[in-house]
Amino acid sequence: MSLIILFLFLLYTCKLAKASAKDNKTDKYEFCQPTRCSNKSPRIRYPFRLKAQPTSCVLKGFELSCLSDKTILHLHSSGDYCVHEISYLDSSITITDVNEATCSFQSLISFNLTNSKFFFLHSNESYALYNCTETASPRWTSYGSIGPINCLSNENNLVYTINSESSVEDMPPSCRKSGTVEIPGGLPLQDIATTARARPVVLGWAALDGCYDCENLGNYCGFNTASNSTICVAVKHQKT
Ligand SMILES: *[C@@H]1O[C@H](CO)[C@@H](O)[C@H](O)[C@H]1NC(C)=O
Ligand SMILES: *[C@@H]1O[C@H](CO)[C@@H](O)[C@H](O)[C@H]1NC(C)=O
Ligand SMILES: *[C@@H]1O[C@H](CO)[C@@H](O)[C@H](O)[C@H]1NC(C)=O
Ligand SMILES: *[C@@H]1O[C@H](CO)[C@@H](O)[C@H](O)[C@H]1NC(C)=O
Ligand SMILES: *[C@@H]1O[C@H](CO)[C@@H](O)[C@H](O)[C@H]1NC(C)=O
Repeated sequence: MSLIILFLFLLYTCKLAKASAKDNKTDKYEFCQPTRCSNKSPRIRYPFRLKAQPTSCVLKGFELSCLSDKTILHLHSSGDYCVHEISYLDSSITITDVNEATCSFQSLISFNLTNSKFFFLHSNESYALYNCTETASPRWTSYGSIGPINCLSNENNLVYTINSESSVEDMPPSCRKSGTVEIPGGLPLQDIATTARARPVVLGWAALDGCYDCENLGNYCGFNTASNSTICVAVKHQKT
């Protein structure tokens, strides 16, 4: 008996769903017009939106804002980053610390992707940080330690880093482990240890169903809130 009721109920809800889909058609879908912070800034469109645009055409966690002509991504657990490039085909975004004076290591130490939609596109490796009171011996550097990291060190405290998977039994006695840092793949470690300028970091997001094929044809991926699914918006001779 209860099965029959359930069956009738399902039949009824299916009908309802069909009807509302028909009534809503596609005109209820609002395609957020692509926008940008300035002529030279990356184009902003689905899955991103500017905070000023309607919430309907975006995924949560992809809000951007403009700081004069800069495009800003706010990461919940680590702060604001400048957006230099967005690839809608590769689902990737290239960012640097919003504070240009922050060196790469400092920036990576405070980098935290928890509660964000992003991950390091070129994977990442964990490095241990060591505070040392004297210069590392050639023996230790032969294990692959790198440093001193200029921007983290001062005359009394030299900061070195070494891959967390390296054996550090022969760590110099003057060194104490002070933490770990995730280094994204593709960053030249020796180089970022000595230069003050922040290097761009490439993050990825999980591509949505059908978006790759859509973008690959030169069209724009979008989202229809009424049908709760991605759609492909044809673009007439307009490239990002
Ligand atoms: C990243 O942020 C989350 C929540 O904001 C926090 O719980 C976590 O400890 C942070 N991770 C690191 C490595 O700081
Ligand atoms: C770094 O990579 C490990 C896997 O090797 C992963 O578990 C971790 O979440 C990554 N960290 C970040 C911040 O993406
Ligand atoms: C390591 O040195 C930094 C300053 O360079 C300091 O802030 C930190 O507390 C030190 N950590 C340890 C474990 O000594
Ligand atoms: C259109 O879809 C929305 C949900 O996206 C719904 O709330 C609304 O009732 C529908 N309109 C009609 C006429 O069915
Ligand atoms: C939209 O679809 C996703 C799976 O594709 C589902 O997890 C989510 O609950 C759906 N949202 C609504 C409002 O139906």
